[in-house]
Amino acid sequence: MEPFMLKGTVVPGKQLGTRLGFPTANIAYDPSDRAWPEEGVYAGIARIEGDSRSYAAILNQGSHPTAPGGAPTVEAHLLGYPPVALYGRRLSLTYCRYLRPETRFPTLNDLQNQLAQDRESAIAWARECAPELLP
Ligand SMILES: Cc1cc2nc3c(=O)[nH]c(=O)nc-3n(C[C@H](O)[C@H](O)[C@H](O)COP(=O)(O)O)c2cc1C
Repeated sequence: MEPFMLKGTVVPGKQLGTRLGFPTANIAYDPSDRAWPEEGVYAGIARIEGDSRSYAAILNQGSHPTAPGGAPTVEAHLLGYPPVALYGRRLSLTYCRYLRPETRFPTLNDLQNQLAQDRESAIAWARECAPELLP
C-alpha cells in the first residue's frame, strides 16, 4: 500500500486502552476533511515531536464500535513506549501495512486478545521492513 501520513495533537481518550494493557495516543479526525485510507487497523510508524527515535505502532482509524461514543479517532499504541500519557504532544503517524477491518467485538476480552494478535502482526511487519523501530 501507499504509506499515508497524519500529524496531530494527542487528545485524552476514555482510558480503556490502558485498562486493556494497550495504552493509546488518540488524535481526533474529521472523516470529511480529506481523502482518508480505509477504516481499520494498520501497522505503522509513530514519531513524537521532540523525541529523537521512532516507534513501531499499531494504529486504528475508525469509530471504535466495541466501546462506542465519542468522535472518530486515529489511535496508536506505540511498541516499547512507556505507558505515560502523551496529551498535548504532536504526533505523526504513518500507516504502512493494512492488517484488518475495525470490528465490533462481543466482549472487551475479545478485543484485548485481538490487540495482542495485532501487536504480533506489527512486530512481524517491522522485523521484515523496519527492524530498527523495534524495542
Ligand atoms: C491497534 C488497535 C486496534 C483496535 N481495534 C479495534 C476494533 O477492531 N474494534 C473496536 O471497537 N475498537 C478497536 N480499537 C479501539 C479500542 O477499542 C480503543 O483503544 C478503545 O476504544 C479505548 O481507547 P481510549 O481509551 O484511548 O479512548 C483498536 C485500537 C487499537 C490501538
